[in-house]
Amino acid sequence: MRYDLINNNQLLASYRNSVTSVHFPVGTPTLVAAKDELQTGLEGLLGRKILIQTNLSNASIVVGTVKSSNIIASLGMDQQLTKVGEEGFVILTTKKDQKNVIAIAANSDVGVLHGVFHFLRLLQTGQTIQNLSITSAPKIKYRLLDHWDNLNRSVERGYAGFSIWNWHTLPDYIDQRYIDYARANASIGINGAVVTNVNANATILTKEYLEKVAALANVFRTYGIKIYLTGRFSAPIEIGKLKTADPLNEDVKRWWKNKIDEIYTYIPDFGGFLIKANSEGQPGPQDYKRSHADGANMFAEALAPHGGIVMWRAFVYSNESPEDRLKQAYAEFKPLDGKFNDNVAVQVKNGPLDFQPREPFSPLFGAMTKTPLFMEYQLTQEYLGFSTHLVFMAPLFKEVLDADTYAKGKGSTVAQVIDGSLYGHSLSGMAGVANIGNDIDWTGHPFGQANWYTLGRLSWDHDLSSAQIANEWIRQTFGNDKGLVDTVAKMMLSSREAVVNYMTPLGLHHIMGYGHHYGPAPWFDKASRADWNPVYFHRADSIGIGFDRTSKGTNYLSQYAPELRKKYEDISTCPEDLLLWFHHVSWNHKMKSGRTLWEELCYKYYSGVDSVRRMQKEWNSLEKQVDKQRFQQIKMLLAIQEKEAVWWRNSCLLYFQTFSKMPIPPNYEKPDHTLEYYKNLNFPFAPGNGK
Ligand code: GCU
Repeated sequence: MRYDLINNNQLLASYRNSVTSVHFPVGTPTLVAAKDELQTGLEGLLGRKILIQTNLSNASIVVGTVKSSNIIASLGMDQQLTKVGEEGFVILTTKKDQKNVIAIAANSDVGVLHGVFHFLRLLQTGQTIQNLSITSAPKIKYRLLDHWDNLNRSVERGYAGFSIWNWHTLPDYIDQRYIDYARANASIGINGAVVTNVNANATILTKEYLEKVAALANVFRTYGIKIYLTGRFSAPIEIGKLKTADPLNEDVKRWWKNKIDEIYTYIPDFGGFLIKANSEGQPGPQDYKRSHADGANMFAEALAPHGGIVMWRAFVYSNESPEDRLKQAYAEFKPLDGKFNDNVAVQVKNGPLDFQPREPFSPLFGAMTKTPLFMEYQLTQEYLGFSTHLVFMAPLFKEVLDADTYAKGKGSTVAQVIDGSLYGHSLSGMAGVANIGNDIDWTGHPFGQANWYTLGRLSWDHDLSSAQIANEWIRQTFGNDKGLVDTVAKMMLSSREAVVNYMTPLGLHHIMGYGHHYGPAPWFDKASRADWNPVYFHRADSIGIGFDRTSKGTNYLSQYAPELRKKYEDISTCPEDLLLWFHHVSWNHKMKSGRTLWEELCYKYYSGVDSVRRMQKEWNSLEKQVDKQRFQQIKMLLAIQEKEAVWWRNSCLLYFQTFSKMPIPPNYEKPDHTLEYYKNLNFPFAPGNGK
């Protein structure tokens, strides 16, 4: 949304020629917002004032719905408009009085807003606006940001400052940030925000706070964004003075029904609840020997008359169970398939563990046929270097979406599960745990914005490729110069594999620092629960390394379709990028490269660091093409990333070497510290604990 003047003179001249004046009648706040955006955008991009008016009969651009604009109504666009639903738009070059006009049309005001943003994107990314014929509708219905923001403004796993929600000054003070947040989201099609942490606080449901939430909802509404809250399961006890929160208890049900009715008096279009229950110490229905379905349905019944939904999280693993943690969500949720009310979706993290640099897709995506499943990604980089590492996540997201579950035969991709098409669900959703805070650049790292952007664009259209998304984002963020676009795209598109390589190559996982999750600690074994310890996950010993989840091990693999089971069960067909996720592999195992496992591990860790150094060189080559401030900022951040990549590489290899007893090949630079040095590093104030 920089809207910098277009610096290609030829293009600028041709845009100026096509965009002379705009017919745009506005009768609602959303249409006013769309018009203002178009005005700001065009004036910035074209460097001149553009006449935007209600009654221009000879404008070169006409904007609106059939209802809001008599010109749009007269253009006969019904056929295109039937394709774009409630939120989509049509952008069409057509004829009016024998003259070419560009029509930006939709069935709703919010559709018009989306169309306006898309039109601006065409100009920002240097595309032709001759002969346009675009129809666009979202493939996924609920496109959400989940904020893990606490009421005291700390952010759980937040690395971009404090929460942007200033609960103290709400509802009276409307920070411009709230408006800009809504604009940014609308520009990429995000239509919902869960504003509170999944580790929920019942206080948000009190009258005083609902007034504050309503003030935010009022801002968001104009931009087509609904507000959602997290529901603390024990709220009836904590703020309702009941003795129980049993979801089958009539008083409890009544309490929630009244509470939800009350919420709708403040926020008539309240979206619903996101709920974390019986997970990591959060209260839930199992406290009363009830199931997740009993809990979810209680909320669902109270929300249904208002059109609200429940997003019930599948991120559960029990304190007591000695079972492989990765198997537990499936074990709990699969038997409940078909038991949830119509307005309940189960929200599943992309992988079975917890947002690691690489995980296989969660087996739940191939297992629940009767329940709509929402995808939960994590934009905040809890396990990907916090906000100091440049990691473009589109390749990670796409890898999961494109994965084949084989649930209904070959070609049953996770994307088809998520968009509802595989089983004909009308509820469909994709959420990203937000990486936004009150840092001046919103995300701590300017490239963190690319992940926010990706969530929006992919939830609108999951067929977009990572390269397309990167290309769009770079052009809008840094400019359209081809050399610059190519160089930054190279950096972004290789960055995810780089982080995998310098942190957790070959299927390693969960070997980060305890609690704060900052940096490497594969040696850590002091956590109270086995499955919070890195040693539980890598299982290195004198023979080899990796977690046997085949039929000879925990048989986690049994939760996948037979086709996948077969492929992963056999060490010779198991993809090497997840080898240690599924197998305990001997140090001498021959890899496809001809190297032994130990040599391959060294190779991967070293190539991860090399990739970061390459990114640094690439960035340095752009000094003249990027403004000084952003150039310096990103240069400093890349230097931190390089330092930390070396830290990961050295400490992990030195530690694993105590088991393999094999040398780091002589052609590699030597670790510059001892293992003891790394083990003794301490980070009492690492950010993101959310306390
Ligand atoms: C991770 C994260 C927690 C978070 C949890 C969740 O475990 O470290 O801070 O609460 O995920 O997704 O609920």
